[in-house]
Amino acid sequence: MTQFTPRVFSGIKPSGGLTLGNYLGAIKRFVDMQGTDFETMYCVVDLHAITVWQDPAELRDATREVAAGFLASGIDPEKSTLFNQSQVPAHAELGWLFSCVARVGWMNRMTQFKDKAGSGAEKVSLGLYAYPALMAADILLYHATHVPVGEDQKQHVELTRDIANKFNHDFKVDFFPETNPVIEGPATRVMNLRDGTKKMSKSGESDMERINMTDTADLIAKKFKKAKTDPEPLPETLDGLSTRPEAKNLVDIYAGLSGQTSEQVIAEYAGAGWGRFKPALADLAVEKLAPISSEMARYMDDKAEIDRILARGAEKARAIADPILKQTKEIIGFVQ
Ligand code: TYM
Repeated sequence: MTQFTPRVFSGIKPSGGLTLGNYLGAIKRFVDMQGTDFETMYCVVDLHAITVWQDPAELRDATREVAAGFLASGIDPEKSTLFNQSQVPAHAELGWLFSCVARVGWMNRMTQFKDKAGSGAEKVSLGLYAYPALMAADILLYHATHVPVGEDQKQHVELTRDIANKFNHDFKVDFFPETNPVIEGPATRVMNLRDGTKKMSKSGESDMERINMTDTADLIAKKFKKAKTDPEPLPETLDGLSTRPEAKNLVDIYAGLSGQTSEQVIAEYAGAGWGRFKPALADLAVEKLAPISSEMARYMDDKAEIDRILARGAEKARAIADPILKQTKEIIGFVQ
């Protein structure tokens, strides 16, 4: 078996703003993996964003805002490679090669496609359907071994493993590594503040159901105050939350923000009513998010600096990606 360099790759789509779900499920964990034994690569996946319509000016803005979110949260471009996907053409090229490896039957099982396309599957873009093959390309273009993501991306990382296996098997090579999804911590699935059975997402109907990374302190406090709960106080153990999705969500968010486990939070707040817990949660969220949102605003005031960072990151990314793509083409049998 080939030994692969331990390398982390992950990405975030620039479609709409960043939410607390993106922060706790992804960005905060990206920062934690930086400076460990892993080489870390983080990408603003703009090619993925255009699987649904994006206004050009908003796409540019959202791309810079996601980059600003990474930087403000502690991603250091000297320690991690930070770039936007469309500046590395090899993503699109390997994406095509992988759409010739992936099977239609595999794609048909992707729950996220089914959710997003709903009953209008005939009308969505072909790109939305092919999206997981591009995501596999993002990861395998760097021979990434570990992919930190929220729970909703697990199936896509598993598909990445299937694509790598089939490629290796069909061409009788040991070229692409087996990628491990890293889905850890208390907040890998942050739920909607108004309905604890739905994921918190940037595209939900009401702004009150999510916390945006750019929300003001007052708005954060208001959203937590109005978050749906039940009349019971917090239980003595985590088991007591198993049938209380909204309550569990707020405990998990507290744990994610404070760096504790959900068990530790329950131990501290056992028996507390919402009148005590919600203000504590709002204070904690403001304490953690306010410095990040003001730092994001500072970066957004200097777009040229963001663009320079992304360009420099893309150059570093291409230096890894291009030889891997070249070898892939050699294996497939293209005359080069
Ligand atoms: P995206 O842009 O929808 O979300 C970015 C990251 O945030 C996580 N996330 C959440 N985590 C916890 N609770 C939530 N409510 C929540 N909402 C979002 C997502 O799990 C994700 O980790 N297909 C990917 C982007 C992508 C990618 C990749 C990721 C493209 N290529 C290669 C990893 C590796 C996506 O749409 O994520």
